[in-house]
Amino acid sequence: MNAAIAPALSPAVAGTPDPDIATLLAVRPHLRMHAQDGLLLEGVPLAAIADALGTPTWVYGAGTLRARYRALAAALAGAKLPAHIHFAVKANDRLAVLRLLAGEGAGADVVSGGELRRALAAGIPPERIVFSGVGKTAAELRLALDHDIAQINLESAEELDMLAAIAAGMGRAARVALRVNPDVDAGTHAKISTGRAADKFGIPYADAAALYARAATLPGIEPVGLAVHIGSQIRALAPFRDAYRRIAGLVRDLRTAGQSVRVVDCGGGLGIPYRDEPGADPAGLAGVLRAELGALDVALVLEPGRWLVGPAGVLLASVVLVKRAGTGRFIVLDAAMNDLIRPAMYDAWHGIVPLDAVAALAPARPAEVVGPVCESSDIFARDRALPELAPGARVAILDAGAYGAVMSSTYNARPLAAEALVDGERWTTIRPRQEVAAMWRDETIPPWFATPRP
Ligand code: LLP
Repeated sequence: MNAAIAPALSPAVAGTPDPDIATLLAVRPHLRMHAQDGLLLEGVPLAAIADALGTPTWVYGAGTLRARYRALAAALAGAKLPAHIHFAVKANDRLAVLRLLAGEGAGADVVSGGELRRALAAGIPPERIVFSGVGKTAAELRLALDHDIAQINLESAEELDMLAAIAAGMGRAARVALRVNPDVDAGTHAKISTGRAADKFGIPYADAAALYARAATLPGIEPVGLAVHIGSQIRALAPFRDAYRRIAGLVRDLRTAGQSVRVVDCGGGLGIPYRDEPGADPAGLAGVLRAELGALDVALVLEPGRWLVGPAGVLLASVVLVKRAGTGRFIVLDAAMNDLIRPAMYDAWHGIVPLDAVAALAPARPAEVVGPVCESSDIFARDRALPELAPGARVAILDAGAYGAVMSSTYNARPLAAEALVDGERWTTIRPRQEVAAMWRDETIPPWFATPRP
């Protein structure tokens, strides 16, 4: 294979401080532009996958996932923290991804019976699974107890009573952590902020100590610790510090009152740079954990999702057509908000890079990059500096490994996209494109409805 080349810097576009393609690739070592083969993820030209599977298609990098897991684990070990990484399955629940992370030693943080069963199906042992979520059903709690998973994180007094009754009825003692709402603003998008008093998550800080004491008296319950999760895509350390300091205070209060506290579940939330945002990294987070919780002699559980898988995935799409409108242009892709909803839902910024090296080198000018869905919010990028792209040209939408495929729908009767996994020089399909007829295969038309006459 020929040497990789770096694409030239695109000319700056007035009013758009967005990083250009060269800058995006420079800070993503798993991606590089090759003169002939175009954009590579690890050792595989993404065009080869698009040729074989069509588009839209998700592609994940196994080597990238391993490297990120190891970097996080190393940061925690470097800070001498007794921490266990429990991958937040909601970020990417594909069996291949879960199996890979399990192989690295990861446990799982699940939020539904479905995720619990997925984690088990991927080979994550029950003793490495914690169950979070504000509304676990009786059936889900029973499933968790049946498998004797490591820990159930409770979010309310009502849920504690429900679990106590179920566990006692099964003759079981459920290991529980109380998820506390520390009333800390994570400074992230309102739709992914979870630690303010008005958010639906967690037990009010002021109520937590009394509830812990009550939990310790219930026959089906063994309280083991506290949990906290203040939000997602957090790029500053201060909110983590504030939250963990409050939790540490509560641990001390509980111990003073004679309670046993063995575990603090620190949640997830560590952000990634989608554009060129500066901010927190694993070493910084480990430093905060060490400073705030390191002296407590508790086992730490971490529930990272986005940081592990976000940068390791891309969404490949093809240009359907380029619609000229006045002096502007709309680049219409065959991927849409039903595939990747993050821009529509959170105004998220994702890098967009042509797969072809020549296209990536060409002069850029602003474009709107949109999908074909009949919603004005079906926009991947506004005013984005991109080269001329002809119909059929292919692009990669970057950092789509977390909250991408898992949030897809079949809106507009668009089948779920194919998914592939690259591992160094190898790649394989991990989920085929959904067949169109599969979208209605399980539906029923009431038998008494007349068949339309031709
Ligand atoms: N633990 C709990 C209890 C959570 O609710 C979450 C995420 C995590 C861990 C993992 O957080 P992470 O490390 O991935 O930030 N769909 C949104 C993100 C929703 C996050 C929900 N909870 C997005 O695309 O930005």
